Amino acid sequence: MTEIQVNKVGKVGVLPTDKALGFGKIFTDHMFVMDYTSGKGWHSPRIIPYGGLEAQPAMIVFHYGQAIFEGMKAFKTADNRVNIFRPYEYLNRFNRSAKHLCIPEMDVEQIHDALIQLLTLEKDWVPNQPGTSLYIRPFVVADEPHLGVKVADSYRLFIILSPVAAYYATGFNPVSIKVEDKYVRATKGGLGEAKTPANYAMSLAAQQEAYAEGFGQVLWLDAVERKYIEEVGTMNILFKINGEIITPALNGSILGGITRKTVLELCRSWGLKVTERQISIEEVFEAHAKGQLEEVFGSGTAAVISPVGELSWKGQKIVINNNQTGEFAQKLFDYITGVQSNKIADQF
Ligand code: COI
Repeated sequence: MTEIQVNKVGKVGVLPTDKALGFGKIFTDHMFVMDYTSGKGWHSPRIIPYGGLEAQPAMIVFHYGQAIFEGMKAFKTADNRVNIFRPYEYLNRFNRSAKHLCIPEMDVEQIHDALIQLLTLEKDWVPNQPGTSLYIRPFVVADEPHLGVKVADSYRLFIILSPVAAYYATGFNPVSIKVEDKYVRATKGGLGEAKTPANYAMSLAAQQEAYAEGFGQVLWLDAVERKYIEEVGTMNILFKINGEIITPALNGSILGGITRKTVLELCRSWGLKVTERQISIEEVFEAHAKGQLEEVFGSGTAAVISPVGELSWKGQKIVINNNQTGEFAQKLFDYITGVQSNKIADQF
């Protein structure tokens, strides 16, 4: 186990009820912090009270966005234990993102140990009502004060924890989606496959316009031909067409979701045909016209599965599955949340 210095808060907070939770608004009493200094590596792991940071205005992250993050979840099980869903998958992706942003690699075992120690201290913050969890947000920022554009010499890693309910206030209901033909999320050779703030900053204007037009989210097309489907909102997207599960292949501009991977593994284990390939928006509209588009849904850590009820593209709108939550999306949601809370064994 990593030797971690622990400085506890004087007075612990109280976990609010499910209704007050929302998503990402409440934080637990403590956080994990570790520093990186060039020549010294990652050092000084510590658990300290959650709170304000000492930060210099010239820190590289504030100016040039050299940062990465992750998002995973811990769940209360029926026997009152805490189950983290696939932590190594998320921590390995954290390191893959680090590489894209020239951030020094982290020791996955060390971060995992730190997470266990933090969760042990904060176990009473893990909510237990259905649909709730403790969202875990590890992130790294370049904290060297320097206004030249360069790879930083020093970094700070944090893990903060937030008890959460559903990501969307509308819960597990079909969302109306605008197929985005003005903005793009990412390009091949860019940062699309890394979990870095730039990709989320990039999405804000499109999201804002879509909300103003009455949509719940946007569907991202490829940046070159504006033809092939990439992601939906902050999630991966999957289609059920004529019994087959089709999802865009990871092509360099799409984030490799852990929930996406889980969904594909499950679908294969249930005997469905699963295909990862380019899929165009035209093909989806054609499948709908032929009566073959059975279900469309997003997959992500925050929302797990999010059914798509309507797709609007260049003035044409298609309604999927009568704008109802599809049976298959529901089955996946129930199964994955069952595995997460340990009611069903994780077979992969
Ligand atoms: C997800 O987990 O689906 C996300 O990427 C959303 C997160 C940035 C809040």
